[in-house]
Amino acid sequence: MQNLAWINGHVCKLSEAVVSLEDRGYLFGDGVYEVIRVYNGIPFYLDSHLERLQRSAAAIRLAVPHSFEEMKKIALGLIAEGGGRECYIYIQLTRGINRREHIFPGEVNPSLALYVQELPANTGKGEVKPISCITLPDERWLNCYIKSVNLLPNVLAKQSAAEAGASEAILYRPGGVVTEGAVSNVFAVIEGEVRTHPESKLILSGITRRIVLDIIAGQDIACKEEAFTLNELKGASEVLLTSTVMELRPVGIIDGEAVGDGSVGPVSRSLISHYKNAIFKHCDC
Ligand code: PDD
Repeated sequence: MQNLAWINGHVCKLSEAVVSLEDRGYLFGDGVYEVIRVYNGIPFYLDSHLERLQRSAAAIRLAVPHSFEEMKKIALGLIAEGGGRECYIYIQLTRGINRREHIFPGEVNPSLALYVQELPANTGKGEVKPISCITLPDERWLNCYIKSVNLLPNVLAKQSAAEAGASEAILYRPGGVVTEGAVSNVFAVIEGEVRTHPESKLILSGITRRIVLDIIAGQDIACKEEAFTLNELKGASEVLLTSTVMELRPVGIIDGEAVGDGSVGPVSRSLISHYKNAIFKHCDC
């Protein structure tokens, strides 16, 4: 496939796509984004991602400059034009180009960019191996429900995880309340019950999180959208991370200690299998 970009209506190769130095996304991180997984050429839960883009944009007082249907058409058109099968779509909306001044420009001309990037064909298939995580204080702002391009705390947390030989950083607020991962939502099986932080300003309302909760609702699995502490996380029998790109990832080690017996537990195994079925059903693959 060809990795293509669409910038304010202009299509080019991703490697040749450029935005202005004066774009407020570049100068201030004044923008929002989405990442949507594409399987078999079909975007997974595109509507949910576009709805969240609209919510994020509204939260920073920005309007998406195209209708929902137009956005879908642009995204699907770009996948088709690039011949994308296994890839993701990145969408970024910023408050446009203007001379550098913190207050909004008098007349806002939002800048919209999308690109499709190929991914290895085997994601979503095969055995999922447990990963190792570290825990870190959540140093982000208090509006984490906005999918903003300001990702420096997430970048630093993920980098610390990588330097510790781990795949993800699980974040906690003062008092030890676990919020989410640097790039994922966190589920834990605590005393036989699945727990995850409730939707609030402290976490991103993950699309994968919601799909997993819907799967759980259709199963005989006890679940509570209720926050848990670092201590509870460390005593959990299973820990599972969710994200569009990562999909469902069981955690085998946290801060060097095994979670349960370190292998993929029964609840995680069942949810992973149902999630794969949802992909097959939704994307016909
Ligand atoms: N990140 N929490 C954070 C902080 C995230 O950055 C993400 C996803 C999630 C999971 O959300 P979803 O299930 O809707 O992908 C939770 C994306 C994939 C990224 O920044 O690359």
